[in-house]
Amino acid sequence: MRSTAEGVDGLGGAPADAATAAEGEVTEEAALALDRADAGTHRRDAFLIPPALHHPSGEVAYFAGNSLGLQPRAVAQILQEELEDWARYAVRGHEVARRPWVEYGDLARASFGRLVGAEPAEVVAMNSLTVNLHLLMISFYRPTEERFQILIEDTAFPSDLYAVRSQAAHHGFDPDVAVVRLRTDQVLDHLAREGDKVALLMLGGVNYLTGELLDIPTITAAGHAAGAVVGWDLAHAAGNALLELHDWDVDFAAWCTYKYLNAGPGAVAGAFVHARHHGRDDLDRFHGWWSNDAGTRFRMPVDLDPAVGAAVWQISNPPVLALAPVVRSLELFDEVGMPALRERSVRLVAHLEQTLLRLAETRPLEILTPSDPARRGNQLSVRIRGVDSAALVDRLVEYDVVCDSRPPDVVRVACPPLYSSHHDVWRLGQALEAALDEEIR
Ligand SMILES: Cc1ncc(COP(=O)(O)O)c(C=O)c1O
Repeated sequence: MRSTAEGVDGLGGAPADAATAAEGEVTEEAALALDRADAGTHRRDAFLIPPALHHPSGEVAYFAGNSLGLQPRAVAQILQEELEDWARYAVRGHEVARRPWVEYGDLARASFGRLVGAEPAEVVAMNSLTVNLHLLMISFYRPTEERFQILIEDTAFPSDLYAVRSQAAHHGFDPDVAVVRLRTDQVLDHLAREGDKVALLMLGGVNYLTGELLDIPTITAAGHAAGAVVGWDLAHAAGNALLELHDWDVDFAAWCTYKYLNAGPGAVAGAFVHARHHGRDDLDRFHGWWSNDAGTRFRMPVDLDPAVGAAVWQISNPPVLALAPVVRSLELFDEVGMPALRERSVRLVAHLEQTLLRLAETRPLEILTPSDPARRGNQLSVRIRGVDSAALVDRLVEYDVVCDSRPPDVVRVACPPLYSSHHDVWRLGQALEAALDEEIR
């Protein structure tokens, strides 16, 4: 990384007076200049940034948006409106609330479609992430004696591993045999060698631990060529990576909305089912009244009149108070658009990487995430040898910097482009240096 009169290579757009110090170091002034140059593509003012203990700005520098995104200011208002409508209309609110509750799930549909590259009918807001993965696997994991394997990354989020193991057991297979845990670079080889045994690939689009962004179109095509179904957990990819699920021919996917999508703890999740599977009556599915077509639902038919598209996977009526923050939060993504956000994300992560690499010159720190921007999202995972990552993260709080740790020695840092700044990244560098020196001493 070089400093130039035009700015800092890879960070883009800093004005000529953005002073950079020694090679590889972005000064505080340069970070502030980068933020001024990049002012058009974020919505920092739309978020509540947690208060600082000491920092003069009054705000923490927040790097845990890959775990729980910050609260958009507008969420309080939409929740208040729903509470008012409930108080004013009670049961009539289903029809006459300012956003009628009976149609509430539809409010997220178009935005979800834009986020993941899907037609509105291919997406649905419902439940939570692991529940959605189970409901989709009920339909799409259909093992036979010959073809029964489920492929998953060796560093998959434990909830996904428990989910696929319990699915295999549910079908009478030994999970230790049916579930094949692979390094991400082994997936294509495994498909080439024993693809005829693979029933399902269930992988994380961006791995939660390493931050690696997988090549979703290539892996999906290889899975299909082997005769398998391909589903993706997009917890760390939705609102982070550019996704084209329809064009990539992905069979199904699910994601949560509390990370990059900023809809609050446990907020309602999303699911995608490719249009090619819509209307199939050979798929097992669990039904409820919300699986029925909206036009006939309240005639209370004895026989299900299936909803069109992904909506048929819904079972229950929408939890309005948990969906309202999703609806408001997605509006911010629509305002800025994923392409601009992704570009800003790449710039912020380049700065973050540069900061961490500078520290790695003198401290026992190693970036686990691929260095190619095309192979990563917004998170960098850092292994700090010999340092207790949980203690380090606690120490960083004293410096008003919030990260998250994956014990024993990994710290994950993300700088979501909607609200993170280059100045935050500069603060992280300063705090990490000081906290590491304390820990190592
Ligand atoms: C990759 C991944 N999968 C699954 C989950 C579990 O999500 P939920 O508790 O919403 O089912 C998480 C939660 O952080 C996750 O990061």
